Amino acid sequence: MSDPLRSIDRRFPGVPTLEGAGVRLRRSFSNNEVPLFDPFLLLDRFGSANPEEYLAGFPWHPHRGIETVTYVLDGRVAHGDTLGNSGVIGPGDVQWMNSGSGIVHQEMPQRSANPYLAGFQLWVNLPAAEKMSVPAYRGLSAPELPVVPTDAGGSVKVVAGIYGGVEGPVRGIPVDPTYFDVRLAPGERFDWSPHAGYTAFAHGIDGAGGFAGPDAGSVAPGETVLLGPGGGVRATAGPDGWRFLLVSGRPLHEPVAWYGPIVMNTREQLAEAARELRSGDFVKHRRPVVEE
Ligand code: FE2
Repeated sequence: MSDPLRSIDRRFPGVPTLEGAGVRLRRSFSNNEVPLFDPFLLLDRFGSANPEEYLAGFPWHPHRGIETVTYVLDGRVAHGDTLGNSGVIGPGDVQWMNSGSGIVHQEMPQRSANPYLAGFQLWVNLPAAEKMSVPAYRGLSAPELPVVPTDAGGSVKVVAGIYGGVEGPVRGIPVDPTYFDVRLAPGERFDWSPHAGYTAFAHGIDGAGGFAGPDAGSVAPGETVLLGPGGGVRATAGPDGWRFLLVSGRPLHEPVAWYGPIVMNTREQLAEAARELRSGDFVKHRRPVVEE
């Protein structure tokens, strides 16, 4: 007998949060939810039509022990880091950054003719053995991300993982993540199977729909739902269609010690990071930052 379909276990409406130098965003889950979403640590959705709510951005700040994944839906975000990467990510682009042992970067939303900014930042944990690895940066422009049609008029943009035999370009990540942007036609049903034992969650973007199981009520735009244990994921779009993020990964089951943008396994490692930030020894691998 196959496992039952995964149903909604917990719902997270998102909490208005002021982050960076004064960016208004909605935080879906964070350190209060550890270890529910293991290996995922945090999901922020930024979205505003008022540049004053985002232009302050996220000036130079450190990360260690995690991967940060930025997915821009609308607007433009300029970035730069101590590996020497810099550029602008725009609508449909993804930045998958492994902070490893330490990176310092900035993420600055830009003013443009379109005042609207929208997107996500997801934090993916690194296994203990990879927390002090060499930092790595992947920038993927929208055309590099495959969009696979579904059977009934929808599509799946595959950032990481496999859908319909198509593998996303982000590969070799320790927690074996899946990251899909799913669009379903009105009433369309979508079936997909995460690996057994992997964590899975969804975040409503536009329209509405639901998942199989006892809590089959509609998932609203901006709402995050953690899917419980089981086998496949079955989503059904409402009458207006549904667009949602679907994310899955291998849980690490390791201790989490978290201080701001640094997530390690022990308090001693956090103290060491703080010491190194003060002494200037935090960044282990550096190329000069190129100012644009
Ligand atoms: Fe950051």
